[in-house]
Amino acid sequence: MYNEINLDKIDLRQEPPLEEPARQYYFMAECRQYTKRFFEENGRLPSASVHTFGCQMNARDSEKLIGILEKIGYEMTEDEHAELVLYNTCTVRDNANQKVYGRLGFLNTIKKKNPHMKIALCGCMMQELSVVEKLQKSYRFVDLVFGTHNIYKFAELLASSLESDRMIIDIWKETDKIVEELPADRKFFFKSGVNIMYGCNNFCSYCIVPYVRGRERSRKPEDILQEIRRLVQDGVVEVMLLGQNVNSYGKNLEHPISFAELLQEVEKIEGLERIRFMTSHPKDLSDELIEVMKNSEKICRHMHLPLQSGSSRLLKIMNRRYTKEQYLALVEKLRNAIPDISLTTDIIVGFPGETEEDFRETLDVVRKVRYDSAFTFIYSKRTGTPAAVMENQVPEDVVKERFDTLLQKVQEISKRTSSRFEGQTMPVLVEQVNEQDSRLLTGRLSNNLLVHFPGTENLIGKIIDVKLEESKGFYYMGSYK
Ligand code: 5AD
Ligand code: SF4
Repeated sequence: MYNEINLDKIDLRQEPPLEEPARQYYFMAECRQYTKRFFEENGRLPSASVHTFGCQMNARDSEKLIGILEKIGYEMTEDEHAELVLYNTCTVRDNANQKVYGRLGFLNTIKKKNPHMKIALCGCMMQELSVVEKLQKSYRFVDLVFGTHNIYKFAELLASSLESDRMIIDIWKETDKIVEELPADRKFFFKSGVNIMYGCNNFCSYCIVPYVRGRERSRKPEDILQEIRRLVQDGVVEVMLLGQNVNSYGKNLEHPISFAELLQEVEKIEGLERIRFMTSHPKDLSDELIEVMKNSEKICRHMHLPLQSGSSRLLKIMNRRYTKEQYLALVEKLRNAIPDISLTTDIIVGFPGETEEDFRETLDVVRKVRYDSAFTFIYSKRTGTPAAVMENQVPEDVVKERFDTLLQKVQEISKRTSSRFEGQTMPVLVEQVNEQDSRLLTGRLSNNLLVHFPGTENLIGKIIDVKLEESKGFYYMGSYK
């Protein structure tokens, strides 16, 4: 197993191998020379601080980056006063970009006091040409810039950066490559995200993801199953299968397999207790998948089903390829098959040309579906997407008013919906000591709701029965005997 390779046994007098992942282990060994030297000179290991913006995909990518840094010998810290600071960026909405520029100003002041500090940026935002141009022009103190397609090359890029004072930029437009067997860290010892596919082919007209994450590529089922089996051996009881559109998993494989078939294989893994997945595109959600979920012991009773808009007219312009009626029919099918399923969604307000009538259609779907929770977003113009050049952008004050109305509605409904299990006793995966009150533990129900209850730390990572005493709207207070 590559992950267990002893870096000290790699002969650095040889040329780096050309094949992956051996090549990356070679460069990890090279970087390790630096961390060793640093230790000899300073009496401590160099520290590294990784900050993640955006979605679950980025969170998982960061675990891989941290896995590489730990293997090299960095000491991980939250503090940005570190020898290496890496931002894994998001660009789905413009405010994510603005946040990064703001924080870079702050990093520059730290770097002035510690000139040996390295600042590295990666992730979706770096796939935009205009961003890289701006960094080259106005943020010369950044040392390393790479994108989403070559994350696996991090060790090699870091090795070059450690030997150079220049800004190193390596951005690929596309890739068909998936490199397996690199190290990865886990934030929680008992649960883990698992990528099943990368990229997106849907080109929703507002969305930048297909441009920055590239075309859909599925991992081979054997590789996925092997990764999960190893995770389970290592104490993991819950996995979250990750993809921009998991429902189209497997279509481009040499031996095609459906997402529902993959789930059935994952279900067979002994010792694994819970399976989650994200994200499902409504247009591709099959009857086969609903059937598999219904009969499953392990697949969690939760479906994140992005709506985006309730107006069939807007959905067409958004290129979502379903209508309001089809979406509602799908929800009914899901609820008939799995009555206790919890539904969550994403909604965009203020897409170009959105009329009062379109907005009312969105509210209507929210009322009819009664989501357990919904993420609501103000439309953000993303350069390069078809919607960015649509002429009828909605005025800011109108969007703001609609956004507030929607948020209020969503919260009112989700408060009522998510209280429906009050008084019941349900299995809970205990995740952590409560962040506000250390006498409490925080756990997650199969339907993804959180419950806080008195308990001791030794329960973390276990699945236990907790009585849901009182609903607080978005979470429960509970008790455990
Ligand atoms: N503006 C606002 N929200 C967006 N999303 C994607 N692109 C945009 C955009 N340009 C939202 C969608 C998606 C979620 C991850 O982010 O609702 O489901
Ligand atoms: Fe973006 Fe649509 Fe792909 Fe989701 S399915 S990542 S919203 S293009």
